Amino acid sequence: MGVICDGFNEFPDVVRMQGRVMVQSKASEGFFCSMDFSRISLRPFKLSDVDEFLKWGGDDRVTRYLRWNTITSKEQALRYIEKVAMPHPWRRSICFDDRSIGYVSIKPESGDNKCRAYASYAVAAEYWGQGIVTVAMKMAMSRVFKEFPDLVRLEALVEVDNKGSQRVLEKVGFLKEGLLRKYGYCKGEIRDMFVYSFLATDQIL
Ligand SMILES: CC(C)(COP(=O)(O)OP(=O)(O)OC[C@H]1O[C@@H](n2cnc3c(N)ncnc32)[C@H](O)[C@@H]1OP(=O)(O)O)[C@@H](O)C(=O)NCCC(=O)NCCS
Repeated sequence: MGVICDGFNEFPDVVRMQGRVMVQSKASEGFFCSMDFSRISLRPFKLSDVDEFLKWGGDDRVTRYLRWNTITSKEQALRYIEKVAMPHPWRRSICFDDRSIGYVSIKPESGDNKCRAYASYAVAAEYWGQGIVTVAMKMAMSRVFKEFPDLVRLEALVEVDNKGSQRVLEKVGFLKEGLLRKYGYCKGEIRDMFVYSFLATDQIL
């Protein structure tokens, strides 16, 4: 993470800035002042998120590693919010100033597997590399163990090529447990996946 900002060039007397977390985006060229994490929140999806959801859910770059397919119309986006996102046991919209820019989902299993839940997440490509999913995952992790008292283990499956997602999990405190060979299909192709876990007794980093 970098802490360099154009403002220092424009105000030569300024040696200290406070109140914002500034990160270096590797998705952009050079450095910039970016994310004020107090503008990031998690909340349930609403039907009125449809236009914002279509922007990132309709982007192949965002859905490439996800189990669901790129959304192609406003009607489909609305149906997805209504039938999948809203009834989901714990799917939250990652919001920037209350505007949907992504999601975090924690899906608890039932019966004898109720100790376990699966984590999944994405954020709009224009926000990649600014620490947003790391922050969103930390928020989610601090809430779900309280909201699901039977939950002991969070699990995430990540494709071998998806380095950004692996890094997110490592940054928040997940443990890489191993490689699951030919574990499941994604976009029609069977994939090797790393399995990561975080236990209720682990520390969020
Ligand atoms: C993966 C994804 C969720 C990361 O979200 P994000 O908000 O950009 O993540 P963060 O900025 O919090 O952290 C990303 C980290 O990965 C690193 N990273 C990104 N791409 C990388 C790559 N190709 N190789 C190595 N590291 C990479 C970043 O440098 C950063 O690490 P750092 O803070 O140590 O520099 C986001 O890219 C995304 O939505 N991808 C599409 C959906 C997806 O893949 N979801 C996960 C399915 S398992």
